[in-house]
Amino acid sequence: MSLSKSSVPLADKRKILVTCALPYANGSIHLGHLLEHIQTDIWVRFQRMRGHETYFVCADDAHGTPIMLKAQELGITPEEMIKGVREERIKEFSDFHISFDNYHTTHSDENKAFAEEIYNRLHAKGHIKTRTISQLYDPEKGMFLADRFVKGTCPKCKSEDENGDSCDNCGATYSPTEVLNPRSAISGATPILKDSEHYFFDLPAFESMLADWIRSGTLQEEVANKLSEWFGQGLKQWDISRDAPYFGFEIPNAPGKFFYVWLDAPIGYMGSFKNLCDKDSSIDFDSFWKKDSDAELYHFIGKDIINFHSLFWPAMLEGADFRKPTAVFAHGFVTVNGEKMSKSKGTFIKGCTYLAHLNPEYLRYYYATKLTHKIDDLDLNLEDFVQRVNSDLVGKVVNIASRCASFITKRFDGMLSTNIDNQALADEVMAAGNSIAAHYEARDFGRGMREIMALADKVNEYIAIKEPWQLVKDETKQQEVQDICSLGINMFRTLMIYLKPVLPVLADSTAEFLNDELVWEGHKTLLTDHKINKFKALLQRVDMDKVNAMTDASKENLLVKADDEKPAKAKKKAKQEKVVDNTAALNDPLGSDPISEEIQFDDFAKIDLRIAKIINAEHVEKADKLLKLTLALDSQENGETRQVFAGIKSAYQPEDLIGRHTVMVANLAPRKMRFGMSEGMVLAAGPGGKDLWILNPDDGAQPGMRVK
Ligand code: MSP
Ligand code: ZN
Repeated sequence: MSLSKSSVPLADKRKILVTCALPYANGSIHLGHLLEHIQTDIWVRFQRMRGHETYFVCADDAHGTPIMLKAQELGITPEEMIKGVREERIKEFSDFHISFDNYHTTHSDENKAFAEEIYNRLHAKGHIKTRTISQLYDPEKGMFLADRFVKGTCPKCKSEDENGDSCDNCGATYSPTEVLNPRSAISGATPILKDSEHYFFDLPAFESMLADWIRSGTLQEEVANKLSEWFGQGLKQWDISRDAPYFGFEIPNAPGKFFYVWLDAPIGYMGSFKNLCDKDSSIDFDSFWKKDSDAELYHFIGKDIINFHSLFWPAMLEGADFRKPTAVFAHGFVTVNGEKMSKSKGTFIKGCTYLAHLNPEYLRYYYATKLTHKIDDLDLNLEDFVQRVNSDLVGKVVNIASRCASFITKRFDGMLSTNIDNQALADEVMAAGNSIAAHYEARDFGRGMREIMALADKVNEYIAIKEPWQLVKDETKQQEVQDICSLGINMFRTLMIYLKPVLPVLADSTAEFLNDELVWEGHKTLLTDHKINKFKALLQRVDMDKVNAMTDASKENLLVKADDEKPAKAKKKAKQEKVVDNTAALNDPLGSDPISEEIQFDDFAKIDLRIAKIINAEHVEKADKLLKLTLALDSQENGETRQVFAGIKSAYQPEDLIGRHTVMVANLAPRKMRFGMSEGMVLAAGPGGKDLWILNPDDGAQPGMRVK
């Protein structure tokens, strides 16, 4: 039997536009971002499966100072940089099976047009105010400094090298103008105070509209409560302009003034959707965005950007005569093994690193088991992850098929029987579709997954009690075997229909195996007298070794980081991790490698570079990239040696290295790795992989000699 894709009667058919937050176009996509993309994708796939007209759009958030600075650091234009990042991301998201209808950029013609239109409408209604403010300015770089780009001594406890707005040492918060000995974090210059005219969006004018809107079921309860607290303190006008130089859109009739990145970022949702409509003429932009639209609009976001989506954005839309979101769905933050993702622990895992080691559907399933409609943080416990996936997906769901399929294929020519062996069991599994759908709809995916696994347990129990592998030995019980295994296969099918939004690829291979499309409405029916195909292994177990290899590779992404940092600095580093990720040029998408920041001779002199002789080299068990080297720093026998783990396995066989001379950093603080201490670093050049060469000085240079 085959049911048409749009199984919903026309009158019940919803028009739904869904977005997830637009990731900044610098830094890499990590498992935290992916929670959001996976959550949204599951919901979207569910809506599509139910026959609703659903569109899912996203884009890179391409504007702002960090992106401008990062491009400068790379020696390319921001346009070039964001182009490379976007291409890489589109591929990465599709590898995680995120089914965007469109992935655009905020640096687009569509977005510029909407940003100007919205601004002009707000301006015409008197919702834009101007006022002169005084701000720190970097005279060397010729730009105003946002708080995070000011460093200096804490005015309270006098701790040095603190942030422009808060002190990590004593916890004080202050204005950047109060910082003692302020420095620009960009150029090191001493900032001066400078006046500039700024443009403000008059948020307080929307106070009563917002008070109603946030209480009208658009927000989660805890979010609405949080916002009400802010309301109590009174809404403030919102600064929407930034001075040149800035990577963004210039404000109409305000030369040298640019829209602050957060002004045009949410408008990017409209820009991306418009771009989709221009490519597909069957979709009508206005019917989704006009004020009295009957379409639904949902934004999936992280809890850190609630104010932008639940205050500024609805007010902007209201002021500019567009519809407001139907709901904003916020989620919590991902922690790994109970802690904030950490680069030194290898738990700051990039999407591409995950993909190099593990099947994306494992992560989709694990996140699904943990997701609720709330904004609580969500822990990715790596051991639990392995155990959950293996026990649920392999041990429960796929196990049903592997226990039943071979009998059907070998004994009954692939035909499912016409009898239903246990109608009560079949009815129970089929009837669960309603409540599972309700859990998907309410974003309570964890509850849905638990319900599905409880059904899988029942089916397995049924098969275990019936023991078809025993019955098959008795020639008179063949019909029974066919009936039992046919019901097993049918129950597997129903469960895979329920899991399809989470596991689209497993569902596709199941569809092929069963000769059935696995449409949602199919959960109400059974396949009888139906031919299936030969069963092939559908899903591999997860191997903890692969998970370890992934965290090791995440550690190795780091250039140099000693683990023995002072606690205060370590805390500070953790706090800045997000910022660090936005600026460090660790992964250059375009492959260009400009000369880095200028250093003084004194900085260079601190590095003790020595000639070293590689006296031993060996593989390291379970490390994908590392070789363990023993380096002699001395020509004599029994002289000083060092053990160093070097990420050069892709380029060298250990035996080819033994006896060669190379250059090492001899005074690098020892670093504890999973495999042992690393007591230095060897220098190598090249883009990576096979193309990586250790520095290999001529014969005259002897071990221990200083490189000058
Ligand atoms: N560019 C803005 C969003 C603009 S939307 C008009 C932004 N970008 S971001 O790259 O910093 O974050 C993108 C999304 O990822 C946000 O919703 C953010 O909450 C989410 N996450 C970033 N780190 C996360 C975790 N560790 N865990 C879960 N979500 C996280 O903000
Ligand atoms: Zn302080």
